[in-house]
Amino acid sequence: LDILVRIKDKFKYKILAVHINLGIGEYSEQSESIVERVFRMLNVDYLIVNIRESLGYTIPQLASTVKRSSCSICGTVKRYILNLIAVKANMTRVVTGHNIDDLTTYILKSFLIQDYSAMLKLKPKTPTIDGLISRIRPLAEISENELELYAKYRELPYISTACPLRNEASLEFKIKSFLKDLDNYHPTLKIGFYRKFVKSIEHIDIGMFNVRELKLVRCKICGMPSNSEVCSFCRLIYRASKSYEPVNNLHSQIIKSIRGLNWRETK
Ligand code: FES
Ligand code: ZN
Repeated sequence: LDILVRIKDKFKYKILAVHINLGIGEYSEQSESIVERVFRMLNVDYLIVNIRESLGYTIPQLASTVKRSSCSICGTVKRYILNLIAVKANMTRVVTGHNIDDLTTYILKSFLIQDYSAMLKLKPKTPTIDGLISRIRPLAEISENELELYAKYRELPYISTACPLRNEASLEFKIKSFLKDLDNYHPTLKIGFYRKFVKSIEHIDIGMFNVRELKLVRCKICGMPSNSEVCSFCRLIYRASKSYEPVNNLHSQIIKSIRGLNWRETK
């Protein structure tokens, strides 16, 4: 975010920074206060969405009600809210802070579980497809260690504790630790792997992997892009609450917060 702010006048774009408070106890409270401090230091417009307030549920509550892992719920909720904000605020890109450690972990994980459609999405940039706003990952070639050094150098506060819901027995955690260990002996492997991966998927014939082309329809409940009649977010909320009301609340809260920014008038 610091770099995006520093080059914004040169490349002429607007920034709306977003933080989602997931309701994971003390960890979420601390994260919110650190992130808000950074947003203020960088003087950016920002939105903080607290899912307990706007949806009526926290991640641990959703996970225990629908009996799914916290991380998978967390991913669904974050992806949905970021896209929703981008659509409602008329933004053309969703920029996330995924780094090379995250991306190489996801690639290996998708390969091991043979989920090629997930793997094909792990490029540094994906296009906008029918309401699913383009994602960019400018930190795709930067490691966690380098990011920490940068934050220290720029004297930016950052969160150094891991999410307490992290499952250390999960495939993802094990792969990340394995890659970190490998890095000590083969420090250029990760970057080489990611660059070659990005190059090769440009030329992949997706039919070869039995991957269906992404065909999106609109969710009949919330109107957001979905690959089924009702999107995964609405299905999740319905399973938890037997109603779609929380989805409507979330939409109206977000529209209200974006209006509160006086976005068009001020920028
Ligand atoms: Fe998965 Fe926090 S919810 S690490
Ligand atoms: Zn929906």
